[in-house]
Amino acid sequence: MENMSRMLHQARERKSAVGAFNAYNYETVKGILAAARAFEAPVIVAFGEKYLANMSLSDIYAVTDSLSRQHPFPVCLHLDHCSSLPVIEAAIGAGFSSVMFDGSALSYEKNLRITREVCKMAHAHGITVEAELGSLAAGNESHEGSEEDRETYTDPQQAHEFSESTGCDALAVSIGTVHGLYRKAPQIRLDILEAIAKQVAAPLVLHGGSDTPDSLIRACIERGITKINVNTEISGSVIEKTAELLHTEKPHLAVLSLRQQEFVSEAVSRALSLFWGKS
Ligand code: 13P
Repeated sequence: MENMSRMLHQARERKSAVGAFNAYNYETVKGILAAARAFEAPVIVAFGEKYLANMSLSDIYAVTDSLSRQHPFPVCLHLDHCSSLPVIEAAIGAGFSSVMFDGSALSYEKNLRITREVCKMAHAHGITVEAELGSLAAGNESHEGSEEDRETYTDPQQAHEFSESTGCDALAVSIGTVHGLYRKAPQIRLDILEAIAKQVAAPLVLHGGSDTPDSLIRACIERGITKINVNTEISGSVIEKTAELLHTEKPHLAVLSLRQQEFVSEAVSRALSLFWGKS
């Protein structure tokens, strides 16, 4: 498996974005890779701390590593939103190729200091680090953060200082997307994104990709976003299709697993056609 560096730089060159999709079981990893294969796209399998009840770090590594060996395009296994240093160390030990340290709830100084430490530790193993500055609000049905999360837009000048002095490989910014589904019409601040992109050399990451109108996603990619995270939308569409299926059929569990891989792949394909397009 690869770290994020090469894929994010490739995305930047071709004015597209790499999709980072949350995975929590065999079906999600399988479906993500099937879609990535169809688009000949590099892909990021994102595993958040929240899903440790579903799979251990070594289990998600084993599944993703095994499936990626039979897969002809680059795959990165990335630890999504993590504020715990022991979990980051454990993910590195388990074989993850990339990690996110989420210090968005901390003071600027503390976020910077810990992000710098994480970069030092991860870079020594060839592992990329995503950091976050500013914070996203919680929308409906979100599985990231908490209900109390409030929006703080990323300050472009601070983003410059932060990325230069931490040496992070990618920076997650807050420009108006939310984790989950929007409670009101999205207010995406493309002006802030433009200002950040002018000042920050590191690739920029958009969290809260779900439910964001296609035209805004395109506008964000044109202005320098090179990684887009999607979770809620995929889970929601797979659950809806599963409910429809179970309404009319009572399949064997093995068949349901296959159908759910297809449902994941359909949702990821929709996102990849927007983020990456055809190679
Ligand atoms: P959504 O659930 O809004 O797609 O956000 C996903 C995300 O940002 C994962 O880090």
